Amino acid sequence: MNPTKDLTQIVQTAVERHGAQPDAFIPILLEINHEYGYIPAQAIRQARVLLHQPEEHVLVSEGQLYGVASFYHMLSVQAVGRHVVKFCESAPCHVQGGRELWRAVQQELGLQAGETDPQNRFTLKTVSCLGLCGVGPVMVVDDDVYGNVTPEQLPNIFARYE
Ligand code: FES
Repeated sequence: MNPTKDLTQIVQTAVERHGAQPDAFIPILLEINHEYGYIPAQAIRQARVLLHQPEEHVLVSEGQLYGVASFYHMLSVQAVGRHVVKFCESAPCHVQGGRELWRAVQQELGLQAGETDPQNRFTLKTVSCLGLCGVGPVMVVDDDVYGNVTPEQLPNIFARYE
């Protein structure tokens, strides 16, 4: 993810790759989210323009696109830091030490869920089960998955994302 990339180019490439059709919305939004780090309102406007039918008939409204983007927890419509920490808050992780780990993560980063630090280094999010309960508690930083995480490991893990 890289919010310094050219947003217009990212949107254009995503639409070209997946096709300007209604069933391509989710893959397009996922690609924008992955490439840019989140989905700004400007990207939704650009995607809407590119998703016009030839006769300039709108396939989907901006509001619908925004609704889709807000609905999926893996998509973000708010600006995020350079690195996104996703913490699994579902029960199986919770009972495997997740509760203590969550407190430690918040303390280590100085953030509550949904917050970004003033230096834009980290955004902290909670997510539902990531399907990795066998190695809980689970935390994902950008695309890196960490299982069996302990509070003691946190400083080393976060230090990799300067
Ligand atoms: Fe955390 Fe399944 S409950 S990965």
